[in-house]
Amino acid sequence: MDCRKDKKQNNNSKFDYLKKLRENEENNKSDVKPADLKEVLDFYKNKKVLITGGAGFIGSNLAIRLCELGADVLVVDSLIEEYGGNIFNLEPVKDKIRLNIADVRTYPTMLYLVKGQDIIFNLAGQVSHIDSMIDPWTDLEINSKSQLTILEACKHNNKDVKIVYAGTRQQYGKPNYLPVDEDHIVHPTDVNGINKMAGEWYHILYNNVYGIRAASLRLVNTYGPRQLLKHNRQGFIGWFIKQILENSEIKLFGGGGQVRDFNFVDDVVDAFLIAGASEQSNGNFYNLGGSEPVSLKDLVKMMIEIAGSGSFTEIPFPEERKMIDIGDFYSDYSKIKHELGWQPEVSLCKGLEKTFDYYKKYKEYYF
Ligand SMILES: NC(=O)c1ccc[n+]([C@@H]2O[C@H](COP(=O)([O-])OP(=O)(O)OC[C@H]3O[C@@H](n4cnc5c(N)ncnc54)[C@H](O)[C@@H]3O)[C@@H](O)[C@H]2O)c1
Repeated sequence: MDCRKDKKQNNNSKFDYLKKLRENEENNKSDVKPADLKEVLDFYKNKKVLITGGAGFIGSNLAIRLCELGADVLVVDSLIEEYGGNIFNLEPVKDKIRLNIADVRTYPTMLYLVKGQDIIFNLAGQVSHIDSMIDPWTDLEINSKSQLTILEACKHNNKDVKIVYAGTRQQYGKPNYLPVDEDHIVHPTDVNGINKMAGEWYHILYNNVYGIRAASLRLVNTYGPRQLLKHNRQGFIGWFIKQILENSEIKLFGGGGQVRDFNFVDDVVDAFLIAGASEQSNGNFYNLGGSEPVSLKDLVKMMIEIAGSGSFTEIPFPEERKMIDIGDFYSDYSKIKHELGWQPEVSLCKGLEKTFDYYKKYKEYYF
């Protein structure tokens, strides 16, 4: 796999941003105080941590890391069929964590579970954009109303907790300009984006009004081990991985020219850990983002090359997807970089290699 070749292919005029980013990075170097990772990591030793959605993709990777750091981890997950929760995700820490199969929509349960926790990583969610359009009520219940349920539970039983919420770039909708920074207007193109936006703002409100410390990270496309692969309603990366491993043909909507940025899950876990240990993050929301924007077509070519299987063809955009598609998107993550010292460390090439290694080994648990 020649990653340099892929970088070169991406180096066209669409990526002037990259040049600017690099120039800015050079100019601003002295402003950037990288997070003291050792301090952050020590912070979690013996801390009581609750992860909602902890059997899912990002939540389980976070749970595994927190166990390594000596935290006392409680995972809460409803394991609803068709969602991303997967018991196998927690296999490496099954003897170290407590798993409570419960629904964050249930107030009495949450009232009990938040008690005594030092930090809550709040990742439970209905994450399919297309499902949010088919069944807007469930999306509302889980992504919006449940956030109030969790925050009210904390207000009554644990005002001292720190919460980090998983927001999404989908809150911005179709960008007015690129890269998208936190000053960009939020005008979501689907029900999921609206409910995630409300979910985030309940956290900020409870921080500001009740002093329940909360921060939100607005995630871009995240990929890596422990992601749902079995259907195509939960993001395209997992679906591409499955098709490539089955050696079948990927159908790229609209030619695959859309540009996105990607984070390997370990980088996202780092961002949650850093935000959770920081007081500066209270009441704030931050974009995450990848180090380089890549077109979906280039992404697929890279994936096929790394895995050594699969192929692709281009097809017109299906109408129901086109209506909610956000087109090109890549984020400006300089706020979190400057305030909290986070930046992505894992290159797309390295991250994809690790991802395919994982699924080749544990395919049977994800197909
Ligand atoms: N993966 C991404 O690219 C991405 C991008 C933007 C935002 N996010 C956000 O990050 C969070 C985690 O996403 P993920 O990719 O790990 O998805 P995931 O589907 O793998 O994880 C979500 C988990 O939440 C659980 N869950 C859903 N409804 C629940 C409920 N009512 N009660 C308890 N548990 C429930 C699911 O069972 C699942 O395990 C989500 O909030 C999502 O919106 C993810």
